[in-house]
Amino acid sequence: MGKSGSGKTSMRSVIFSNNPASLTSRLGATNDVEQNHVRFLGDLILNLWDCGGQESFMDSYISSQQSTIFQHVAVLIYVFEVDSASNLAGSAEKDKDRERDVSYYRSCLAALARYSPEARVFVLVHKMDLVREHRTEVFQKRVKELERESDGVAITTFGTSIWDESLYKAWSRIVHTLIPNAKVLAKHLTTFAEACGATEVVMFERTTFLVIATSSTSTATSSELLASTNGAQAAEPADIRNSTGSTSPNSLDPTRYERTSELIKAFKLSCSRSQRQFQATVMQTATFTAVLEELTRNTYILVVVHDDEIETDAIRMNIIAARSKFE
Ligand code: GTP
Repeated sequence: MGKSGSGKTSMRSVIFSNNPASLTSRLGATNDVEQNHVRFLGDLILNLWDCGGQESFMDSYISSQQSTIFQHVAVLIYVFEVDSASNLAGSAEKDKDRERDVSYYRSCLAALARYSPEARVFVLVHKMDLVREHRTEVFQKRVKELERESDGVAITTFGTSIWDESLYKAWSRIVHTLIPNAKVLAKHLTTFAEACGATEVVMFERTTFLVIATSSTSTATSSELLASTNGAQAAEPADIRNSTGSTSPNSLDPTRYERTSELIKAFKLSCSRSQRQFQATVMQTATFTAVLEELTRNTYILVVVHDDEIETDAIRMNIIAARSKFE
């Protein structure tokens, strides 16, 4: 949910329909509610409701349609456009617009508390690319305001943009909360990483390339540059290698998962443009080898190894051997 033009359909189109960000400017306003059923990880179906944000629709969601819209919600994602150098003429108009936006937000939270009290609330401060300077400060200020405006409801906030990896980070975290066996998957990936001598193993959903689970227990907390849960800001990114030269998942770039998602999605898109199917990729540098392979019908696996004595073929054979376990 969120006001018209805040970017809801655009993010859906980039993440779930694999469209490039550049095509989103052609999208029309959403009429009422657009429902999508996204098969996500075998039997898990994500029922995604994109609620058009024009005022007449918003009024109807919080009045006559309230029980339909807010019943059985697992996650509410509310999208606010970041307040950049606004194109509104005067500050009075801007304030009025903001007030209306917040009033709808509060009404949605109240309706959610009534019909789906267990639902988690994610608030995206979107179009962060439009903020040219002091991005972190602008985001933090907005988060503080949002917390005040949330009437005590626990919210998780992300700064996002369709133009960079921040969108993948937010959506990976959102989807992660909906995966029932995420902890078991992470445990199996840790076992697999140990068996391969890997620094880290990451599992991606096949179509969206969102991160499902990683072998690193710190996944949820390590990449928090532009995210906070009720204001708790996490550490800045650490260096890729620590001072002793050894590499541990905690000393890797904290944005590596979402950057991989974004890069692979772009690569897949260019493969399909040249009518080639993306299957697997191997990356080798002086310090590490990364193997990205299909794991199951719905997932890909990325294995990162910092040991030049481990052969790429051995990693690939281990992936093949592990397939049935993860299927
Ligand atoms: P309704 O369907 O009317 O509720 O609007 P919406 O929230 O679905 O907005 P939509 O996705 O149609 O996006 C409106 C405009 O915002 C489009 O021109 C997008 O290209 C643009 N947009 C979406 N996300 C971003 C972003 O991260 N950065 C920038 N700069 N523009 C964006």
